[in-house]
Amino acid sequence: MEHSRPDPVRAGRRRVLITGAGGQLGRALVEAFGEDDLLALSHEDWDVTLPPPTGLQPPDLVLHAAAWTDVDGAEADPQGASAVNVGGTANAAALGAQLVVFSTDYVFDGRKGEPYLESDSANPLSAYGRSKLHAEAAAGDDAWIVRSSWLFGPSGHNFLHTMLRVGGEREEIAVVDDQRGCPTYVGHLAPAVRELVDADRPPGAWHVAASGDCTWADFAEAIFAEAGIACRVRRITSDELGRPASRPAYAVLRSERPDAPVLPHWRDGLRACLAKMGR
Ligand SMILES: NC(=O)c1ccc[n+]([C@@H]2O[C@H](COP(=O)([O-])OP(=O)(O)OC[C@H]3O[C@@H](n4cnc5c(N)ncnc54)[C@H](OP(=O)(O)O)[C@@H]3O)[C@@H](O)[C@H]2O)c1
Repeated sequence: MEHSRPDPVRAGRRRVLITGAGGQLGRALVEAFGEDDLLALSHEDWDVTLPPPTGLQPPDLVLHAAAWTDVDGAEADPQGASAVNVGGTANAAALGAQLVVFSTDYVFDGRKGEPYLESDSANPLSAYGRSKLHAEAAAGDDAWIVRSSWLFGPSGHNFLHTMLRVGGEREEIAVVDDQRGCPTYVGHLAPAVRELVDADRPPGAWHVAASGDCTWADFAEAIFAEAGIACRVRRITSDELGRPASRPAYAVLRSERPDAPVLPHWRDGLRACLAKMGR
């Protein structure tokens, strides 16, 4: 499929293609870019391991939110994860439009002990992290690579939903307390992505994550407090949990770019998300 760069004098609104539009970030991007001429493609509409659907109008901008996000599952099927994350990103880049790809704190090994900046060296601990790092390379030099962290939103599979469900069923839950990151509300991330694109910031890596940081156990306690759930959190180690994939112990993301978007604190994100869910 052949595409030329967008015609700057083409009349009308920017044509924006969103991949993975059914995912939690994809849905938030659909809202944030609602004034554009949107083509929101879910997994069913375009399996990104395959060439794009025939007859696709060339977009001006691609927001590539489709990904293999099963971190533990990637250990069992690293090739499957790479096919989606690396191959899918290459297919998105081949559209020839401006491109935003999404990456993760899991490209870092977590041993730095202080916030990771864009210029820090990556060293992923997991198959998922490696696939995302290779995906960054597959995006090409002209892409915006938005690295974020511990995403949650009103829909989909995420830690917030798990805690709301399990917290309502049990008196106590064991949660990992030796991994630190920035739980980021997709409803705050998506408008920041629009800000990056609209301001035509330079391509390359951008760290865009919630302000503040916490452990998963802190996050769980905050969820129960904000949602009025009387469930206790028992703090455990990652070794006690024994998940297949290693995660970075310290994965706080901050930007060294002076004009990087600044997101609200994660707890404000949590409140905003719960409010959106009507809780
Ligand atoms: N979740 C996090 O904590 C986190 C943290 C940092 C960065 N990120 C990155 O942020 C981006 C968005 O993640 P998210 O949290 O929104 O994940 P998500 O909710 O799992 O959404 C990913 C979407 O991609 C779709 N998808 C999977 N395989 C596909 C394929 N072969 N072709 C087309 N679509 C496919 C999924 O559809 P199905 O569900 O139908 O398979 C899903 O709708 C990803 O690049 C992720 O790596 C996520």
